[in-house]
Amino acid sequence: MSTDLETLRDSALADIAAAADLRALDDRRVSLLGKKGVITGRLKTLGELPADERKAAGAAINRVKQEIAEAIDTRRVALEQQAFDARIAEETVDVTLPGRGEHPGAMHPITRTRRRIEALFAARGFEIVTGPEIEDDYHNFEALNVPPDHPARAMQDTFYLDGRRLLLRTHTSPVQIRTMESRQPPIRVIAPGRVYRCDSDRTHSPMFHQVEALYVAERVTFAELRADLRGFLEAFFETELKLRFRPSYFPFTEPSAEIDIDGKSLGTGSGWMEVMGCGMVHPNVLEAAGVDSQRYTGYALGMGIERLAMLRYGVTDLRQFYNNDLRMLAQFA
Ligand code: FA5
Ligand code: MG
Repeated sequence: MSTDLETLRDSALADIAAAADLRALDDRRVSLLGKKGVITGRLKTLGELPADERKAAGAAINRVKQEIAEAIDTRRVALEQQAFDARIAEETVDVTLPGRGEHPGAMHPITRTRRRIEALFAARGFEIVTGPEIEDDYHNFEALNVPPDHPARAMQDTFYLDGRRLLLRTHTSPVQIRTMESRQPPIRVIAPGRVYRCDSDRTHSPMFHQVEALYVAERVTFAELRADLRGFLEAFFETELKLRFRPSYFPFTEPSAEIDIDGKSLGTGSGWMEVMGCGMVHPNVLEAAGVDSQRYTGYALGMGIERLAMLRYGVTDLRQFYNNDLRMLAQFA
């Protein structure tokens, strides 16, 4: 073999051994054995040699070509194995690692509290009814004995829509009117739902929940309201309670009271917390909704679900219910 061919072979084999990946190896294959490759070029020059040298020279080039082809194959197998090993190492699954675990959802504490209130009233013969959150002025105020410009409107900071004809209901009391408009006593219903007021602090939120209860029949009395209320609240909190019936004013009830619960007596709060307003339905309200106020009397109450949930679960800031902090909410799972 000519030293020239030997040099070519040695550098080709070194190049092949140095190819770092399959792509580099293929580039070398093309530059050596391809149509315009070095070895192919050599074979093409055979014709220029004297006839008696051609055979030996051709055989020598072909041996080198063969050697190079084999070296490329060997290197390819090695590189493929390397690539495969790297992939396997990368895709390793460690089956001994601890699992990520499941995070089951839970009902929101306000939903839980609402359902608890509904169940307790349902057990006492109350039916669940609902009304719209976008109300008209008539049902939210006027039919409830709050005429336009009545100072009682200032008791609830109202979000108005549509140039004051429509509003976001400020309480669930309009559902009393809608219920009495569509049926006659005896009526025993509760109306849970969202209400809205321009109001925000530790115990007030601009959107909150109330449950209204309405009982209208012959000879319903304030004594019955008191007894039913205490019965409900003690069932709700599962304990005897220190309650305060504080005389109050609502245009739609007479007499009226607000109920406060001593959080200390529950071990969850620091003092008196107002949980609801109540009273005997005002005769003007019965008449406005088409109920004979000579024949029927009734009581009504509207309680704040957040306030009851705060006392039951020992939450001191109502806004925590709406921060969507899973560390807080997960405690109710
Ligand atoms: C009313 O809304 C009357 N409609 C209740 C009523 C119904 C009286 C039927 C008589 C007959 P008041 O504005 O006090 O009343 O609200 C009732 C309860 O809702 C309060 O006792 C309190 O528990 C809760 N509440 C009031 N404002 C907020 C607020 N911004 N955030 C959370 N809870 C509130
Ligand atoms: Mg009040």
